[in-house]
Amino acid sequence: PAPGWATEADVVVVGSGVAGLTAALRCAAAGAKVTVVTKARLDDGSTRWAQGGIAAALGEGDTPGQHLDDTLVAGAGLCDEQAVRALVTEGPAAVRRLIATGARFDADDDTGEILLTREGGHHRRRIAHAGGDATGAEISRALVEAVRAAGIETVENALVLDLLKDGSGRAAGVTLHVMGEGQRDGVGAVSADAVVLATGGMGQIFSATTNPAVSTGDGVALALRAGAEVSDLEFVQFHPTVLWLGPEAEGQQPLVSEAVRGEGAHLVDADGVRFMCGQHELAELAPRDIVAKGIMRRMRERGAEHMYLDARHFGAEMWERRFPTILAACRAHGIDPVTEPIPVAPAAHYASGGVRTDLRGRTTVPGLYACGEVACTGVHGANRLASNSLLEGLVFAERIAEDITAGAEFAGSVGRERPAGQTGPSAPAASPAASGDTPLLASEARYEIQHIMTNGAGVLRSAESLARAADRLERVQDDAVAQLRRDGKTAEPGVETWEATNLHLVARVLVAAALRREETRGCHWREDRPERDAAWRRHLLVTLRPDGSL
Ligand code: SIN
Repeated sequence: PAPGWATEADVVVVGSGVAGLTAALRCAAAGAKVTVVTKARLDDGSTRWAQGGIAAALGEGDTPGQHLDDTLVAGAGLCDEQAVRALVTEGPAAVRRLIATGARFDADDDTGEILLTREGGHHRRRIAHAGGDATGAEISRALVEAVRAAGIETVENALVLDLLKDGSGRAAGVTLHVMGEGQRDGVGAVSADAVVLATGGMGQIFSATTNPAVSTGDGVALALRAGAEVSDLEFVQFHPTVLWLGPEAEGQQPLVSEAVRGEGAHLVDADGVRFMCGQHELAELAPRDIVAKGIMRRMRERGAEHMYLDARHFGAEMWERRFPTILAACRAHGIDPVTEPIPVAPAAHYASGGVRTDLRGRTTVPGLYACGEVACTGVHGANRLASNSLLEGLVFAERIAEDITAGAEFAGSVGRERPAGQTGPSAPAASPAASGDTPLLASEARYEIQHIMTNGAGVLRSAESLARAADRLERVQDDAVAQLRRDGKTAEPGVETWEATNLHLVARVLVAAALRREETRGCHWREDRPERDAAWRRHLLVTLRPDGSL
């Protein structure tokens, strides 16, 4: 699209992982004109990086009920049971539809049965995988091909800025900045009757994360600015086994899938002692929060910077066949898992909270939906069960498509392009830069935010560390306000500055929630409140006031 462009669709889907593309395909199949906008290329989000697989009760003897039980236990008392029931009951058929769409899972050569592995918190083998340890890449490939084959309009390299609303406050589209099209000139708008947020996570608020660089919390920030309710942001999951590349390692770090432990790898300390035995009946395959805490504890006891994952007993053939991606990543960093234990430490991995939705994916803003990591559907509670995320994206995207398309009549996909400024739902809304209370932050603020969050709101938190983080985040904003007063403007609008601004907003909400939740539950670990507190078996809901305060 040319600078200053505007286009119309029935549905605009923001994001192109498993959730976004599934929603787009299902809405398009029902006759809706769909536009998918995505921040980088169609396959650049988190889905492509998913290794272990997708959980569903597909195996003999397994049932949705058993999957439900494991999900509720991992969620530490905060799952919405109805949402989990929808997930586990509809999951197997949703996976089969994904296979029908073109995704190829690893299967037994003789019987054709899908091969299933185990991961933390699962009492059964129920994780389907592809390419050994490249499940997300295969799902992404299949969905991208299907979206192209269906002729769905896609806008790549487009950072979504804000929600457009009509006079009644209903979502009516989005504004976005197409990168490489200049600064303000690249801002355009897609108007639509329904907006589906599927923008993924926010791992980039921490210094080290398994998330790609695009995971900057843009969807949660947009939803907050639009007045939507967000929930459970304090529950950030730290993946226990991320390849440890040194104390200064920053940005996206290589994951060592839970499936490696599912196939029998052991967590050991520098003396080769298996420290998870005796801590939980499932030892290395305990739910993720318990394993991450076990590793952190042992690191403290030993004054060590990391622990080890020992899977030498797999042998070269199994490593090459079953975990080719992880093997290559380790070897690229000079570690050979066939002959030596892998150094690992926890790193930020997944936002269990997000934009609050109901069972049909509807947020508190009419016409605005959310699915995938950006959403808080209630299925993860205080700690997501391994490999439930791809499944959640699938199942709730389908539910959203059903809600949007049921009974709707669509005009078809022709003749919708229109020049900017002509009749539409409203003029493109202000970008974050235009709001006096939330000045646009300089791109360097990203690194400051990451350090503040890693030091104050990481795996281990306390009232003191969180209060310090809140203070320092406020100062980041005060500096931008002072600059605005002094120079009459803040940072130049651009992708990096919008990303920094979004990260800052999401970090503020996360820290405020973590400070308020005075207990330890799931992946929220307060050193000063080490016990779970029954009085806190509730959710923290946040909306942003018009002046930018929480
Ligand atoms: C992994 O492969 O360990 C990641 C699975 C997940 O995050 O659910």
